[in-house]
Amino acid sequence: MEITLALLKPHVVRNVYAFQQIKQIIQENFTVLHSKEVHITKQLSEHFYAEHKGKFFYNRLVTFMGSGPCHAFILQSKDSIAKWRGLMGPTKVYRAVYSHPDCIRALYGLSDTRNACHGSDSKESATREISIIFPELDENQFTTADS
Ligand code: CDP
Ligand code: MG
Repeated sequence: MEITLALLKPHVVRNVYAFQQIKQIIQENFTVLHSKEVHITKQLSEHFYAEHKGKFFYNRLVTFMGSGPCHAFILQSKDSIAKWRGLMGPTKVYRAVYSHPDCIRALYGLSDTRNACHGSDSKESATREISIIFPELDENQFTTADS
């Protein structure tokens, strides 16, 4: 079993229908270990997205992530990282709409930045991101959960 971090971005949390539909997809595909609404401050967002610092979209991204509450989930399943990224679809919504029209980003994304959701891209990122978004949880619980 593997765990990953899923984040539903602010424009999705504001849209009751989209939020419910995505939650249903999550519940059908994963065991939800933890779930909470989280307000990602600009400072937290800068830390979370540090790998993108200096890129042209960085300011736009961290500003957007702080524009309202996000919803965070710790998901568990076999190959959860690849599975959740597969369900999300390509980063760029305009590409997702053509190549994977049924994926979450194609259905609920609005733009390159407002692409509906986030998913960790490796086991290391998952551990790092979970500890940033869920600092109240014991990290050891997750680093050893991959058996
Ligand atoms: O989220 P993902 O791992 O698929 O993509 P990323 O390359 O790690 O980029 C992180 C986030 O930055 C994306 O999910 C978008 O919200 C945002 N982004 C953007 O605003 N403009 C781009 N050209 C690329 C990414
Ligand atoms: Mg990424």
